[in-house]
Amino acid sequence: MAYVITIDGPAGAGKSSVAKRLAQLLGIHYLDTGAIYRAIALVLAEAGIRPEESESLKKALPDIKIELRGETVLANGDDVSREIRTPKADRLSSVYSALPSVRQALLGLQRDQEKYGSLVVEGRDEGSVVFPKAPLKFFLTATPEARARRRCLERERRGEPVDYGEVLASIRERDTADSSRDVSPLVQPEGAVRVDTSDMTEDEVVELLLNHVREALSRGEITE
Ligand code: DC
Repeated sequence: MAYVITIDGPAGAGKSSVAKRLAQLLGIHYLDTGAIYRAIALVLAEAGIRPEESESLKKALPDIKIELRGETVLANGDDVSREIRTPKADRLSSVYSALPSVRQALLGLQRDQEKYGSLVVEGRDEGSVVFPKAPLKFFLTATPEARARRRCLERERRGEPVDYGEVLASIRERDTADSSRDVSPLVQPEGAVRVDTSDMTEDEVVELLLNHVREALSRGEITE
């Protein structure tokens, strides 16, 4: 029977790489919900729609089509896979994702992914709001400094210019925005396993999560 494993947590806690590897090891799908929020934010900003609840926002949302094809993200048919990873997309997604109608518009798309089979889903409210009945939930966190260091490394690897101070400030800003918004704020979901990844390697985090999955399988809480 298809099952969902949720991984929530703040920006830079290592969710994406861990979720991707966990899904690969389990042979199930991986869903990066941040990519969906990033894509819709870019479309809305480009269309000149202000990040506030309005009639124009409500009118625009039903016409935006976001598609996920593996690592590729399409927004109204355009490949935005690279564009969604820029600092501009960091800022825009944080602002637009606080709007209730944006969150509502993306709920169906996220839940629909379950019909394609078991999945590891990564985001901010996956265990609390989108898949509250998921049998296994994780909350990955780390200090802002550890997360900023990781974001810098990622950007360096992509050959992009980085400024640690700026990255740290942006992480703190997004933490505040993501945790203090009225709708679906970033919280540790009830029943989630909390993992502080500050002093852990990616391999260690993956192994820890995998052990929890094995235990859940052996207890029959999830079935393949
Ligand atoms: O995980 P990320 O950095 O790619 O997410 C981009 C933005 O989208 C981030 O500011 C929080 C928001 N987001 C959200 O509100 N809910 C989710 N399930 C996933 C992301």
